[in-house]
Amino acid sequence: MYNSKIIGLGYYVPDNVVTNDDLSKMMDTNDAWIQERTGIKERRWAIENSEDTTSGMGIKAAKIAIERAGIDKDDIDFIVFATLSPDMYFPGPGVQVQHALDIKTVGALDVRNQCSGFVYAISIADQYIKTGMYKNVLVIGSELHSHGLDKTTRGRGVSVIFGDGAGAAILTREEDNTKGILSTHLHSQGEHAEELVLVAPGMGKRWVNDILKDNDPNDESYFPHMNGQFVFKNAVVRFSEVIMEGLAKNNLEKEAIDILIPHQANLRISQFIQKRFDLSDDQVFNNIQKYGNTTAASIPIALTEAWEEGKIKEGDVVVLAAFGSGFTWGSVIIKW
Ligand code: UT7
Repeated sequence: MYNSKIIGLGYYVPDNVVTNDDLSKMMDTNDAWIQERTGIKERRWAIENSEDTTSGMGIKAAKIAIERAGIDKDDIDFIVFATLSPDMYFPGPGVQVQHALDIKTVGALDVRNQCSGFVYAISIADQYIKTGMYKNVLVIGSELHSHGLDKTTRGRGVSVIFGDGAGAAILTREEDNTKGILSTHLHSQGEHAEELVLVAPGMGKRWVNDILKDNDPNDESYFPHMNGQFVFKNAVVRFSEVIMEGLAKNNLEKEAIDILIPHQANLRISQFIQKRFDLSDDQVFNNIQKYGNTTAASIPIALTEAWEEGKIKEGDVVVLAAFGSGFTWGSVIIKW
């Protein structure tokens, strides 16, 4: 059995900055409320009909990660793409990456799992590399939320939180089992599926023809719905649990953590976890202030920025953790 390790990281966000003040011109909200409740100051929202689609942003992030990894595109054995906002209902964006990067006909897998999508995707890539089936795997998390949000006062509880962007990582084989990805931990609890949900279009409940037939201006089924406080309460518990689970699996105490890269759901959630694990400001990386919550893209964007800023050094214990819609949650323990 091998380990896997990350050898290249990249991210891409659209140029268009949307501040909290910009939002207050679209809906009844204000900078003070958004910053106090979430920590967010601004986010990127792609210009409509630009090349900044979910696949387009993912491809840009992937190109940077491939270059930094120092590999050729033809060395990539497999693609894993995590998103809740694919360009098309099907096929998913993995195949668009294979085509746009002109990679040979390797497998391309699309992962859902929303805010935990990147953690799930890393876990999948890690398993393929561990068994020896693949050597180099491209993992992407990309999200285009802005086109699907309710940008009126009705949707303010959700729409002020989410932003667009993409991040990517190249995972490769590591023969030293004490290095690289040490373990991954995944969970789900479907009884809470509808606490953070986008119902339509979905074949089970409400498809496009139902929406067209009803033609109801009050229809909210095609906008994301979140029971914010309930999600928040579960998030802080599950983040803590799954980080503890990862540490215990590797016989590590919380003092062993060099840096935690949490999914950027809410600055208050990150601060709660920071306190719970007695971590300093430098040990928890946050960039939600600039980008909002980019779901599957948030960890790879944050990981890339932390790495670019020199906050991750060889030998560091790096912990990734995520929680979100499903509910799904997970963690990754890395010896960098
Ligand atoms: O990434 C996936 C996981 N997601 C999360 O973990 C998110 C977890 N939840 C949260 O981050 C928070 O619950 C939110 C940021 C979504 C909301 O914060 P909150 O402190 O839980 O606020 P709330 O939903 O309880 O709303 C409080 C008040 C309400 O008004 P009333 O009923 O007290 O009069 C809302 O209508 O704030 C109002 N409100 C707003 N006011 C101004 C809701 N959204 C806004 C807004 N601007 N954008």
